[in-house]
Parts: sequence; structure tokens; C-alpha cells
Amino acid sequence: MSSYSLADAIKPSRKSVPPSKAAKGRKGDIDLPDYIAPEPKTAAERREWDRMSSRMEGFHTYFRMSFKQLFELADGSFAQRGLSVKDFMSVAEDFHEHLGFHHGIEERHIFPVLAKRMPQFRDDHQEEHDVIHKGMDELQALIAKYRSDPSSYSPDDFRRNLASWGPLLFYHLDAEVETLKPDILRRYWTLDEVRRLPM
Ligand SMILES: [Fe+2]
Ligand SMILES: [Fe+2]
Repeated sequence: MSSYSLADAIKPSRKSVPPSKAAKGRKGDIDLPDYIAPEPKTAAERREWDRMSSRMEGFHTYFRMSFKQLFELADGSFAQRGLSVKDFMSVAEDFHEHLGFHHGIEERHIFPVLAKRMPQFRDDHQEEHDVIHKGMDELQALIAKYRSDPSSYSPDDFRRNLASWGPLLFYHLDAEVETLKPDILRRYWTLDEVRRLPM
């Protein structure tokens, strides 16, 4: 039996991120600008303001589901599903690759644009990515190890890895969507600008 619980592995927490210079300079949450774009006047406008957060939430729902599935199967119950260790490593590799791809797109195409005005994407969410990537690198190393020697598969080591960065991942998946909600976006952008934001 594994000593790690799913509930603990997905309980959102940011405490694994070291305090940054940017965050040290402020007392709590980021002070939002005084500017605020006008309330959406029509359902169509509301949908345009919602586009960033709802598309992001769509991706994140998939990552939450995949992470939970991976954690649950990691106790060795993948065998009851007819999967070998190597098959299970392919499942893990898919998750790793999709999440890495998502973060890569964000860091190359989305964060740089948003960060021009939003410190959340320059500091907070980037710092979260950086720490998540350390956990993902360790996951990649475990995948390689168990692929080359399936008999060395350890449910406890695998779950220890997931539990070490799961709370930050779940924190980040929520926080990023929250930052893209209309009430926050409206402090930094006009509707016309939001229409052109990449997503
Ligand atoms: Fe995201
Ligand atoms: Fe992200």
C-alpha cells in the first residue's frame, strides 16, 4: 500500500514556491489598477470577456482529470486494468508531454503578451510553472527508470513524486483561470484588446 493519499496530493497549495522578489515587495495580493473597462453590455460581449478563462479552464479540467487518474493507478492497480508497467509509463508520458506542451505554449505565446500589463503572468504564474517543472523533470526520470527496468517499479516512489508537486499544480490550474476571469481582465485591458489576446 502507498502512504500517499489522493486528497493530499491534489489539495491546492502554493507553499512549495519560494517567496520571490516581486512578491516580497508587496504585502498580499497584487493591487489591481484603478482602471476598469465598462461592463459587458450584451451576452456576446460577456462571452468575449469570458473566452480566455473558459478556454483555459477547458484545458485545465483535462489536466486535473489526468493527474488524478495517474495517481490512482500508480498504486499498481494499472495491472488490474490489463496494463503492464511499460503501458502505464506511456500513460504517464502522455500526461507529462501534454502538460509540458501546454506550459510551453503559455510561456512562448501567452504569458509574454499578458505580462506586459499583468504582473501575475510576469511573476506569480511563471514562478509556479518553474517549480512545477522541477517535479515534472523528476517524473520524467522515474518514467525512464521504470521503462528500462519495469521490475523496479515502486508505487510509493511514483506517488511520492506526484504528491510533491500535485498541490502546486492544482493551485496553479485554479489560480491561472482566476486571473483570466473578466473582473480581473477588465482592470488591464479594453474589450477590443481582449479580443486580440492569444488563446
Ligand atoms: Fe494553463
Ligand atoms: Fe500555466
